[in-house]
Amino acid sequence: MVPPVSSDPFRVGVLISGEGSNLQAILDTLHGSEIEVVGVASSQRQAHGVERARQAGIEAEVFDRSDHADRDARDAALGNWLADRRVDLVVLAGFMEILSGPFIRRFEGRIVNVHPSLLPAFPGVRAIEQALDYGVQVMGVTVHFVDEGVDSGPVILQECFELPYARDIEAIEEHIHQIEHRLLPRAVSLIAAGSVSIDADNPRSVRTGVRDG
Ligand code: GRF
Repeated sequence: MVPPVSSDPFRVGVLISGEGSNLQAILDTLHGSEIEVVGVASSQRQAHGVERARQAGIEAEVFDRSDHADRDARDAALGNWLADRRVDLVVLAGFMEILSGPFIRRFEGRIVNVHPSLLPAFPGVRAIEQALDYGVQVMGVTVHFVDEGVDSGPVILQECFELPYARDIEAIEEHIHQIEHRLLPRAVSLIAAGSVSIDADNPRSVRTGVRDG
């Protein structure tokens, strides 16, 4: 399930839908070392992340569903674009759409996502609002492999924090972003280094260099 380190540098394709601050964190901390972001694909034409990619000299392409017959056709075109760029890993960095089964299977074990909750709690959209509505006292961020469910793949890294009593959502979002901007690049870096592996007997058991030494 975990990708072999197949090329040098390790080639990453990033999928976005909006602001692209997680993309920026990857560009600022990883791009140009042993890791190269070889393409950025956006589901939204107006996404600020497209501009961030182009400013960094990285090819960026828009894959809007309305430009294709249906989601499967869009995902097939997106998959071909990523395959042409010989990506070792596909990173969903604020990509706000569900990818089709054929796309997930095509890149099986080579797709990761960052999600603003401690999965399996609060999957899907508006995770922070879901958590606040529930009244949790601890929140966090998860980086996980992507499977065919919604935010249901094996966990790679998680980080939690205690909520202050005053629940200012903007401050919480800002804090979550700060964690994401560390955790997602760290997970990509560990995968690129070959430090992430899955126990074949228990596919949900992900071993990382950080946890297992
Ligand atoms: C992040 O909070 C991510 O967890 C969620 O969408 C947000 C994207 O932010 N899936 P950005 O586009 O990376 O700034």
